Parts: sequence; structure tokens; C-alpha cells
Amino acid sequence: MHTAIAPSFVCVLTALQYVSAIDVPLKAPLSWDEASEKARNFVSQLKLSEKIGLATGSYGSPPFLPCVGTLAPIERLNYSGLCMSDGPNGVNRADGVSVFASGITVAATWDRRLMHERGLALGEEFRMKGIHVLLGPSTGPMGRHPRGGRNWEGFGPDPYLAGVAMSESVSGIVANGVQTSSKHYIGNEQETQRVPSTRDDGTVIEAISANIDDRTLHELYLWPFANAIRAGTSSVMCAYSRLNQTYSCANSEILKAILKDELAFPGYVVSDWGATHSTVNFAEAGLDLEMPGNVTGSGIPCYFGDELLEAVQANNVSTKRLDDMATRVMTPYFRLNQDMDFPAMDPATGPTFLVTQFGHGSPLARAYAEVPALDVRADHARGIRELGAAGTVLLKNVNGALPLTNETSFALFGNGLPDPTIGSAFVPPRAEDVPEGFEMGALDIGGGSGSMRHTNLVSPLEAIRNKVNALGGRVQLLLDNNEIAAGRFSTIYPTPQVCLLFLKAYASEGTDRPDLNLQWNATMAVESTAALCPNTIVVTHGPGVVLMPWANNENVTAILAAHYPGEEIGNSITDVLWGTVEPSGRLPYSIPMEESDAGPPILILPENTTNPSAWTEDFVEGQMIDYRYFDASPGQEPLYEFGFGLSYTEFEMGESLNARLVVDSLNRYANKSMGIEPGGLVDLWTNVAVVTVNITNSGHRAGAAVPQVYVSLPQDTTPQGTPVKVLRGFSKLYLQPGETQQAKWELMRRDLSYWDVEEREWVIPRGSIYLSSGFSSADLRANTMITNG
Ligand SMILES: *[C@@H]1O[C@H](CO)[C@@H](O)[C@H](O)[C@H]1NC(C)=O
Ligand SMILES: *[C@@H]1O[C@H](CO)[C@@H](O)[C@H](O)[C@H]1NC(C)=O
Ligand SMILES: *[C@@H]1O[C@H](CO)[C@@H](O)[C@H](O)[C@H]1NC(C)=O
Ligand SMILES: *[C@@H]1O[C@H](CO)[C@@H](O)[C@H](O)[C@H]1NC(C)=O
Ligand SMILES: *[C@@H]1O[C@H](CO)[C@@H](O)[C@H](O)[C@H]1NC(C)=O
Ligand SMILES: *[C@@H]1O[C@H](CO)[C@@H](O)[C@H](O)[C@H]1NC(C)=O
Ligand SMILES: *[C@@H]1O[C@H](CO)[C@@H](O)[C@H](O)[C@H]1NC(C)=O
Ligand SMILES: *[C@@H]1O[C@H](CO)[C@@H](O)[C@H](O)[C@H]1NC(C)=O
Ligand SMILES: *[C@@H]1O[C@H](CO)[C@@H](O)[C@H](O)[C@H]1NC(C)=O
Ligand SMILES: *[C@@H]1O[C@H](CO)[C@@H](O)[C@H](O)[C@H]1NC(C)=O
Repeated sequence: MHTAIAPSFVCVLTALQYVSAIDVPLKAPLSWDEASEKARNFVSQLKLSEKIGLATGSYGSPPFLPCVGTLAPIERLNYSGLCMSDGPNGVNRADGVSVFASGITVAATWDRRLMHERGLALGEEFRMKGIHVLLGPSTGPMGRHPRGGRNWEGFGPDPYLAGVAMSESVSGIVANGVQTSSKHYIGNEQETQRVPSTRDDGTVIEAISANIDDRTLHELYLWPFANAIRAGTSSVMCAYSRLNQTYSCANSEILKAILKDELAFPGYVVSDWGATHSTVNFAEAGLDLEMPGNVTGSGIPCYFGDELLEAVQANNVSTKRLDDMATRVMTPYFRLNQDMDFPAMDPATGPTFLVTQFGHGSPLARAYAEVPALDVRADHARGIRELGAAGTVLLKNVNGALPLTNETSFALFGNGLPDPTIGSAFVPPRAEDVPEGFEMGALDIGGGSGSMRHTNLVSPLEAIRNKVNALGGRVQLLLDNNEIAAGRFSTIYPTPQVCLLFLKAYASEGTDRPDLNLQWNATMAVESTAALCPNTIVVTHGPGVVLMPWANNENVTAILAAHYPGEEIGNSITDVLWGTVEPSGRLPYSIPMEESDAGPPILILPENTTNPSAWTEDFVEGQMIDYRYFDASPGQEPLYEFGFGLSYTEFEMGESLNARLVVDSLNRYANKSMGIEPGGLVDLWTNVAVVTVNITNSGHRAGAAVPQVYVSLPQDTTPQGTPVKVLRGFSKLYLQPGETQQAKWELMRRDLSYWDVEEREWVIPRGSIYLSSGFSSADLRANTMITNG
């Protein structure tokens, strides 16, 4: 029953409240210290082989637990082992589960409440399925390359926005007693050559290396991981790729010096599946758990397991280090009370996983009885619908095209409308070199381990046709993009009042996008639709940046970037089109006019490359990606900038932006006597300034404004490479027509600091720190400054 969900326009003001489907209140998490103590005590009772078992994935002895990643139980100590599952958007390759909105959609909401509630609901589904560890959330890749195949799993290229989204996601998931594995650490910005390859002559060509300077690492790629750790992430997954020529999972600088020491991370580092390439180096560098580990038949070699045992026996890896590995692996388990009241695994999880992965005919799948899955979706569809609408960005709206009101004659055009004709599963590639994805059908999520199979899907065709029928109107369909592109419109009569054109772009783990265009002849389809229909509304479903060479076509009256919204894709877009929900999404990235403004290109080397370490990429642009790049490149303008999005109403911002310090003075360095906690020096998180500005709804409809505050550190007292400005605060304010509310931001010490590479610490520079607030990165309405020293 979707009509009950957002029955009226006022719904936007009375936000749905998340109702937990877990009826027994969960025990509060232990402190990290208490949990580590329990874990140390547990580990002290273990035999050497059992400790090895905690550092190495395995399928255990029967009963075989076929999770994406499994740790074997230790029955004599009542330890049930761990079940880990992909992924960031729901329980992957399972049945009776929800397909949640992807990370990029979440970021586009700019709404902390929705981010957190999604985390809670995700945690609930994993918990009820008996899965201890959710392999997510993701903030790597961030989107240095808009073509990156996995950008959509994360929260976009701005570290502040991504940091908030990581924090809300982690805190929501762990609040339901499920572990998180924040990933992929770090600099894993492209899929191409993310893993090593072997030439015919046996030469191993190493994986891509991201060579990132210390300042850029701290201020950009590491920033959201710090939020995740502060929010209590249980584990961090090290990436497939190399960082500064050393595999991420063997890089002691990033694992030991930065993650475990500087950020005081007390949980465990788990390797991405197959990202471990040797034993001693990886264990000594700080990798705590190898996945998938000791799994016969997986085709992935195991370097921990027996080899780690031998290395410990030879004293090449110390017992102390092994104890540390095992203790770290057990700490989050105790912290989240998974030893006490964790539900048993749904018996359907194994068979569903195996059938989805290998098909009904596979011997593994046939070894299991088919049992109906436990349905853990509860009322999550409501929240998915709400978030999908909130993450939809209205980019253009002329001639009063939207919201739809009394129109009755619609064209529904484009291959993004119907149910997918290939079924509604996780889509593995059907052949070598054939891109994943499918031509006909709604695209609510990308591919790879972050994908999902659908227990339910509400297509745009279904939702819109129902809506139009209920309004007494009619729809005319043309779904084949090539027919549209060719202008074969002879079946369309009369010319509809509104042409809704649904286009899409697929992206998946494992490959990068071939270009930034919408796929399946989309550009021609827009042009020919617009030639027919002077009221053409384009809806895009895609992984983030898509080029829109047709954006200024006079007959394209509205554009909605709807991202990957999850299973309520049809209801979410219907709510926005008819204004049941006000569009309040904002771009979490910039849309360039051309690909040449879309960041550094993906590195692609010829197939015959013989130099084993040829795949290496210096991140010479430093922090200058996305809006930082446009700010640093006068004369270059994006088509639609970071932070931009329209509403059906109008907002004004007061001329006076107020900033006041809430500390006596801004010391150059954080006060180390305040100690260190997961997330780093405590003082970095101290609020040092409060910033306020008034926002008024000056239009005629209720709606949500997204005021943003940007910080500009002085260029003359910071080293080269300081961005012109960086996002350091945002709010989402729901306002009635005529209503004014104050937006208020608390800026932390970290928000006003840069990473000083010589001093190796965060520093607040002397001089004038400018603050500006506005409705996007290019629409700044008010400013002020804080003078330091
Ligand atoms: C294991 O759990 C059982 C049942 O809850 C309990 O009786 C037993 O004492 C536990 N054993 C240990 C070693 O904790
Ligand atoms: C990577 O190399 C750069 C350039 O030498 C250096 O600034 C940075 O600190 C290194 N980062 C790590 C994590 O080793
Ligand atoms: C995998 O585990 C089994 C059972 O514990 C053990 O016999 C085998 O030696 C292990 N193999 C590796 C590579 O660790
Ligand atoms: C231990 O290290 C030594 C010296 O590098 C090496 O010769 C030996 O093979 C190693 N043994 C194991 C089991 O790792
Ligand atoms: C729809 O309503 C508007 C006013 O809200 C009116 O101007 C327009 O003529 C109506 N269109 C139709 C097709 O009824
Ligand atoms: C695009 O559509 C036109 C017209 O139907 C067709 O000729 C062309 O082959 C299509 N291009 C692609 C890439 O499908
Ligand atoms: C826009 O629509 C009008 C009226 O249908 C048509 O004459 C014109 O050619 C269209 N423009 C484009 C760019 O398709
Ligand atoms: C690799 O192939 C390209 C053509 O595809 C050729 O120009 C180049 O010389 C080859 N390089 C090597 C090292 O064989
Ligand atoms: C630093 O923090 C300590 C511990 O909270 C406090 O006693 C001390 O006064 C602080 N120093 C400064 C300069 O604020
Ligand atoms: C902001 O609005 C409030 C009323 O909502 C008003 O009292 C206050 O003076 C305004 N502040 C500024 C800076 O305009």
C-alpha cells in the first residue's frame, strides 16, 4: 500500500519516524576498553591453531556456513564464529530483504536523519538474518574519476559530506548490534587493474598504485575514514590496490602508523577478498584478518592459515602480533554483545547465496535443501521510498513543468521504465568482455558485490501508470531507446502534454565506465523526444556524474537526477514528479559540461605492458577534484555544481552570516593532553566556533532548503595546495511558506585545520579564515571571517 505513505504534501514536514522491527531492546554496546579486555581474556584461553583461525577466514568444519566470509566457530568456548556479508546497500544475494538506496543517493539527500535511519534499517536486516558483519559502508572510491565503477557505493568526492554519511551509516548499523567494515582503505579510485594480473610468460603485473601525498591523504581520502572510526566502525577493509607502491593490506604506514596509531582504531583490518599476497609482510604491516582465507575451491590462495602458523612457529611473526590480531578480531564481537543474543543464521541464506552465485544446477547449490527465506523487510520500504525521493535532484525546471498537476496525457518513454526483462537478480557478467548490466528495465542499483537481488521492485512504469490512471489520465508507451532515437513516433497520437523520458547509466564493481554518457542511445533519444514534445522531462538513473549535452535543449523543461534509489524507484520518482514530496536532493558531486573537466582520467595501459610496476598513478592534482578543481581553474564552469539542486519553492538566505568562537583562542595545535580516542586526537573534535545564518522560504510551497557553509583557509599562511574553499557544514531545514529558521553549524577544530606534513599534525593557520554560506558551491550568499592571531 504505497498511497498510505506520503498521503499529502504536508508529509514533507512530518518526517516518518523509524520504527524498529526488533522487539527486544538491545543491550548497549560495551566501551572499546571493556570489549578489548573481554577479547584479551578470550584469546588467552585459545590454542595456537584457534588464534590462527581467528586471523583466517574459512568455511569451518560442518555444518558448513556459506557466508561471503566466514570465521569458524570455537565450540568449546561457545563462540559461534562470524558470518560476513556484502554489502553496503543490503544483504546481498539473499531473499526476503530490502534493496536500499545506494551511497550516492544517500549523500544526495544531505539529510543526517535519513542517513542514520537507513543505517538502522540495514543493521536490522543483517541482524535478523543472523549476519554479524556488514561489509560496508564504502567511502573508497570517493570519485576522483567520475568513471570509477564503484563510486555509487560511496558518498561522493567531498570528504566532509562523505564523513557525515559514514558516521551516520556506521552508528546506525552498529546500533542494531551489527559490525561494519568501512572500506576500501585507501586510494582505491579505479577498478581497472585494481588487482594484479599474470602475463602468459608468468610475469606478475602488479595492481594499480595510488601515490598520494600526505596532506591530500589526510584532508581528502582519509577524512571520512576518521569519521567512521569515531562513529565506532568495527573493522576497516584494506583495498585491493597499492598505495605508494605497496599493497594497501601490506602497507604499515597506512595500517599501523595512520589507522591504528594516529586514528587509534581498536578494531580489526580485514583484507578485501583475495587482497593478501604473502604472509609475514602482510601480518607484520597490520593486516589482522585474511579473507576469504582457507576456502578450498575458491581459487584464491590462502597466505594466513597454515602459512601464518609456520611463520609464528619460526618466530617470523611474533606471538604478540598474533594475539593482537585475534584480540582485534574478537573486540567488536564483544563490544556489540554478539556473544549474548545474536540471532541464528537464516537457514535460507546459504542456498540463496549459492543459487544466486552459481545457479540451480551447481553441485554446491544442490547440496542444500531449498527453504523459504526469513522475510526481514519489515516496513523498510517506507524509508526506502522516502530516501529515494529525498536523494533525487531537480536540476532544471522551466515553464512550470514540475510539479505535475492536472496533466492527463503522458508519454512514458525510455528503457529505464519497466521491470528488468532479465529478472531481478544480481547481474553477473554473461561472458568475458561483455559489460555487466542490461538494456531493458529500471536501474535502481549498480552491479558487483554492492548489488542486490530484488524481493520486490516497484518500477517507474508501474508507479506512474497507477498514478495517471488514478487521476483519470492515459499513458502512451515507447520503451525501446533505439525506436525513440530514430524518431519512430507513428504510434504516438495525440502528442502528449508531457513526455517523461527515463534514461540510465550502469556502473559496476570490476570495471570502470567506458564514458560518462547515459547509455543505450540516450543522447539521441533526448533529442528526438524533444523534437516531438516541447514538454520533455528527463529522469536519469545512474551512478553519479552523467554528462547532459542536451541540458539546455529548449524543449527539455525539467531534469531529475534520481541516482540509484533502491527498490521503491517507481514510487520515489512519482512522489517527486507530482510534488507529494518536495525535491530537496542536492548534487554530492559536480556535473561537468565535458569529460575533460571531470577529473584525471582513469589510467589504462596497453595489454602488452611488461613492466610489473607500470600501473602507478601520482595524484598530482592533490585535493583539486570536483568543486575544488573548478575553484582552482578560473574560467572553467561546471554544468551543475556541487551542492546544487532546485526546489518547487524558493529560499532566501539572510545577508548576515554570524560566526563566533566558543573557545578563548584558536591554538595552533590540538591539545594532546586531552587524549586520543578512536578517530584521533580528542581535541580535533572540539567545537571551536558557532556559525549561524537565517533561511526563509520565500515561495508558496513548503519545502526543504539545504544551506551549506564553506571554509577558506588563508592561502598565505598555509602551504601550496590549499583549496579555495571546502565544505564544513550543511543542514536540511523544512520550512513552510514565509517561515524563517536559523541554520546553525558547530565547527570543530578539525574543520579549521590543514594537515601540516612537516609537523605531521593538524594545524589551524594564522590569519583570516573566511566563511561563506550559500545554496551550492557556486551560489554563495553571505560571508564573514574569523581572524586568528
Ligand atoms: C556455553 O553456553 C552454555 C549454554 O548457554 C552454557 O551452559 C555454558 O556454560 C557455556 N560455556 C562456556 C565455556 O561459556
Ligand atoms: C606516499 O608518498 C608521498 C610522496 O613521497 C608521501 O608524501 C606520503 O607521506 C606517502 N604516504 C604514505 C602513507 O606512505
Ligand atoms: C585449512 O583448514 C583445514 C582444517 O582446519 C586444515 O586442515 C588445512 O591445513 C588448512 N589449510 C590452510 C591452507 O590453511
Ligand atoms: C622465516 O624467515 C626466514 C628469514 O627471512 C626465512 O628464511 C624462513 O623461510 C621463514 N620461515 C617461515 C616459516 O616463514
Ligand atoms: C491546469 O491547471 C492550470 C492552472 O492550475 C490551468 O492554467 C491549465 O489550463 C490547466 N490545464 C488543463 C489541461 O486543465
Ligand atoms: C541508436 O539508434 C539509432 C536509430 O535507431 C540506430 O541506428 C543506432 O544503431 C543506435 N545506436 C546504438 C549505439 O544502439
Ligand atoms: C521544440 O518544440 C518545438 C514545437 O514542437 C519545435 O518546433 C522545435 O523544433 C523543438 N526544438 C527542438 C530543439 O527540438
Ligand atoms: C604494445 O603494443 C603497441 C600496439 O598495441 C605497440 O605500439 C607497442 O610497441 C607494444 N609495446 C611493447 C612493449 O611490446
Ligand atoms: C589541555 O587539556 C588538558 C586536559 O584536558 C587541560 O588540563 C589543559 O588546561 C589544556 N590546555 C590548554 C592550553 O587548553
Ligand atoms: C534570524 O531570525 C530570527 C527570527 O527567526 C531573528 O530573531 C534574528 O534576528 C535573525 N537573525 C539575523 C542575523 O537576521
